[in-house]
Amino acid sequence: MIHVEVELGERAYPIHIGADLIDREALFAPHIRGTSVAIVTNTTVEPLYGTRVRAALERAGKRVQTIVLPDGEAHKNWQTLNQIFDALLGQHADRKVTLVALGGGVVGDMTGFAAACYLRGVPFIQVPTTLLSQVDSSVGGKTGINHPLGKNMIGAFYQPQAVIADIGTLGTLPQRERAAGLAEVIKTAAIADPAFFDWIEANIDALNHCDALALARAVKRSCELKAKVVAADEREAGLRAILNFGHTFGHAIEAGLGYGQWLHGEAVGCGMVMAADLSVRLGLLDEITRERLVRLIGAAHLPTRAPALGTDRYVELMQVDKKADSGTIKFILLKRIGDTLITGAPDADVRATLAASI
Ligand SMILES: NC(=O)c1ccc[n+]([C@@H]2O[C@H](COP(=O)([O-])OP(=O)(O)OC[C@H]3O[C@@H](n4cnc5c(N)ncnc54)[C@H](O)[C@@H]3O)[C@@H](O)[C@H]2O)c1
Repeated sequence: MIHVEVELGERAYPIHIGADLIDREALFAPHIRGTSVAIVTNTTVEPLYGTRVRAALERAGKRVQTIVLPDGEAHKNWQTLNQIFDALLGQHADRKVTLVALGGGVVGDMTGFAAACYLRGVPFIQVPTTLLSQVDSSVGGKTGINHPLGKNMIGAFYQPQAVIADIGTLGTLPQRERAAGLAEVIKTAAIADPAFFDWIEANIDALNHCDALALARAVKRSCELKAKVVAADEREAGLRAILNFGHTFGHAIEAGLGYGQWLHGEAVGCGMVMAADLSVRLGLLDEITRERLVRLIGAAHLPTRAPALGTDRYVELMQVDKKADSGTIKFILLKRIGDTLITGAPDADVRATLAASI
């Protein structure tokens, strides 16, 4: 088992990475104050792992309630969030209840937001079961839901007590979901660690084939890098925004197609290709590095061509994105592997990138 610590002073917490961790009651117990726990999961993950997590928590002496949400990004909204509150209030859950988010990023983001709001804040533990949630969404405390006018627009910064990333759960993950997770692994390497980027290039086949050791190493390094950025800038006053590399274009793809058409990671993969194109156009990035990035994204079975939503529509969607500051769309651009620049860009260049990417 590997440990990574997210250094956030009194809000610091451990990330545990390894196989069969969801059966280890000793990993859960130190992070649960009271005797009551609510597992929040969904209709896909509950039959796969619900019983094992529940059994571990019961062995730790906890009274366990399970809340099963509908599956999918389309359900990451107020109605589904309210189901969590209904179930907790229905069971008279008090301030000492601990929520356990068992599932991918959608369950994790919603459970974290529910934990931030319920009785003005109760503790929660992340048990991410997708590659994307293990390498990215479970770490860093961004929680929330979507609004019809924009993704993740309603939410809170709220840190978990611990993250328990069981690599074994990735065995049941569909290949398309695994690829979507690799997008965030590639993103983290591209913005922060050239040696890790080299390693991913050399090990992309093993990662594509769900090799446990390769996945554990990818999760560990991604978490270490993300933890470092989050520790330096918990509330995204500056540096943390680099984690949004590929997301300005990616969010526009997701919102434009309708949430759930493309997976978040697929949109981020294509968004990185578009951000790299814009970086070259602005003279920041060399063509060879752009090609390297595009090749790796393609090798991870991620889309490298954007859906044809229309240039005006893309611009409109990107203006809604929360990184648009006083009307200027902010882009996270690449100068080289491991080095980024956050900047606005001339409309003509953005439109040229959009035209070239479709
Ligand atoms: N909070 C953050 O910092 C942050 C960062 C990145 C992404 N996100 C959010 O994360 C979400 C995407 O997360 P995701 O990619 O995990 O999607 P997801 O939560 O929708 O999970 C993908 C699919 O896999 C299923 N699944 C989960 N675990 C499984 C397993 N072990 N075996 C089989 N199926 C399994 C899910 O039920 C779902 O159908 C988006 O809403 C995105 O906005 C948040």
